[in-house]
Amino acid sequence: MEKIVIRGGKPLNGSVVISGMKNAALGIIFGCLLVKDKITLEDLPMISDVKLSLEILRRMGAEVAENADGSVVIDCTNAVGGISPCDLVKKMRASYYLLGAELGRFGRAKVGRSGGCDFGTRPIDQHIKGFEALGGVVTLSDDYIRIEAENGIRGSELFFDVITVGGTINMLLAAVLAEGTTVIENAAKEPHIVDVANFLNTCGAVITGAGTDTIKIKGVKELHGCTYAIVPDMIEAGTYMIAAAATRGCLRIENVIPKHLESITAKLVEMGVSVDEFDDAIVVSAPDPLRHINLKTLPYPGYPTDMQPQICALLSISEGTSHLIEGVIENRFRYVEELRRLGASIEVNGKTATINGVSGLHGARVRAVDLRAGAAMVIAGLASDGVTEIEDIHHIERGYNDIVGKLKKVGADIEKVEIQTL
Ligand code: UD1
Repeated sequence: MEKIVIRGGKPLNGSVVISGMKNAALGIIFGCLLVKDKITLEDLPMISDVKLSLEILRRMGAEVAENADGSVVIDCTNAVGGISPCDLVKKMRASYYLLGAELGRFGRAKVGRSGGCDFGTRPIDQHIKGFEALGGVVTLSDDYIRIEAENGIRGSELFFDVITVGGTINMLLAAVLAEGTTVIENAAKEPHIVDVANFLNTCGAVITGAGTDTIKIKGVKELHGCTYAIVPDMIEAGTYMIAAAATRGCLRIENVIPKHLESITAKLVEMGVSVDEFDDAIVVSAPDPLRHINLKTLPYPGYPTDMQPQICALLSISEGTSHLIEGVIENRFRYVEELRRLGASIEVNGKTATINGVSGLHGARVRAVDLRAGAAMVIAGLASDGVTEIEDIHHIERGYNDIVGKLKKVGADIEKVEIQTL
C-alpha cells in the first residue's frame, strides 16, 4: 500500500498535459465488445480503471495488445458474453457498460454487480427501463444482472426520467446493432456521451444528436474496426485549473477543449481567477485573496459534480462564506470531514455545504474517501502549510494519470511512498 506525501505551500508553475478522458475511455473500451474486428485506441489514460476494463475484456476472450507508441489494440472477435469476472467487475462503476455491450452483441447479458465510488445509493433503474424498452427481460439477483432478449433487440423510443450519463451510454451500446431506430429523449449531454457516439459512428454506427437531449440511433447490421483517439479529460483539466488557483500559481494546461471547461472557467473567474483560453490550451493564474461564490452542480453543460470536492477545497481558502449545493449525486460530502482535518471550516446540511473561508490550511494525515475527494485532498495538501499525507490513494489512481509525476514537473513537492506495516 502506498500514500501520497505533500510538502505544501509551493505555487504550481509551468505546463501540464491532459490525458484522455476516463469516462469516455471506459464507455469506448466496453463498446469494443460490439465489434468483431481490430480497434486501435489512442490517448487512452493508463489509469487503474482503464487497466481493469482491459483485463475484464481479456478474461472474456478479447485480444488486447499495447503498441510501442502507447496506443492499445483491442480485438473482441472471439469474446464470449456472460463470463466477465465478478471480482473485477465489482471494483468499478463503469463495468455496468458490459450490460449494454453484451446485450447489443449477443442479445443477452449476464454481468456481476458493479462497484465504484460510494455516494450512497446509485440506482440503475433508468438503464433497466432502457433495456426493457429494447425488448430485454431483466432479472436482478444479489450477485448478477441478467438480460434476455429472446426476440432480438428492437429499436424503441425512450424518455429518461432522470438525466443519466451511464444510462445514456448503455442505451447507445445496446441499440447500435438493434433492428430499427431508437430515440432517447432527455439524454445526458456530457462530452463523453459525444465521444462514445463518435467512436461508434467511426465503427459504422448511425447515431445522430449526441450532445443534445435527443439522440437517434439507427440500427446497423455490424460494426467494423477503426483507429480512434479519446477526447481530453475535462475533469482532469479542471482539477489542475483549481490546483493552480489554490496554490496561487500559474499553469498552462495543454490538450484541452476550452468549450468543455466553460462552466468551471465561469465559476473560477467569478472567484477572481484569471483564465486565458487558446485553441487547445488554457492558462490559469490566481491573485490572493479569492472571493466566495455560490454554486450548484448540474448535468452538463452545468458545473460538473465530479468537480465539486475540488472547488470545495479552493473555497475553503477563499474569502467569505460560500454555499455549495450538490444537484446530481445523493451523498457526495463524505470528504468534508477530511478537509476539516486540514483546518477547513465547512458545515454540511443535506445537499448543501456552507464553507467559511479560512486564511490557510495546515498539513495533516487524511484519506481519499473516493476518486474526486482524493483530488480535493491533493489540492488542499498543495495549498497547506507543512506536510499532508493522503492514504487510500488507490481511489485517486482510478482516475488520474500519473498525478504525482505531472504535479512534480510543475513544482510541487509531492511523492508516493510505501506505507510501512508491522
Ligand atoms: C457517471 C460518471 C461519474 C459522474 C456521474 C455524474 C462514469 C463511469 N461515471 O456516473 O463520474 O459523477 O456520471 O456526472 O461515467 N440515477 C437514477 N437512476 C439511474 C441512473 C442514475 O436515479 O438509472 C440518478 C442517481 O441519483 C445518480 C444520478 O442520477 O446518482 C447520476 O447518475 P448518472 O448520470 O447515471 O451517473 P453514473 O453513470 O453513475
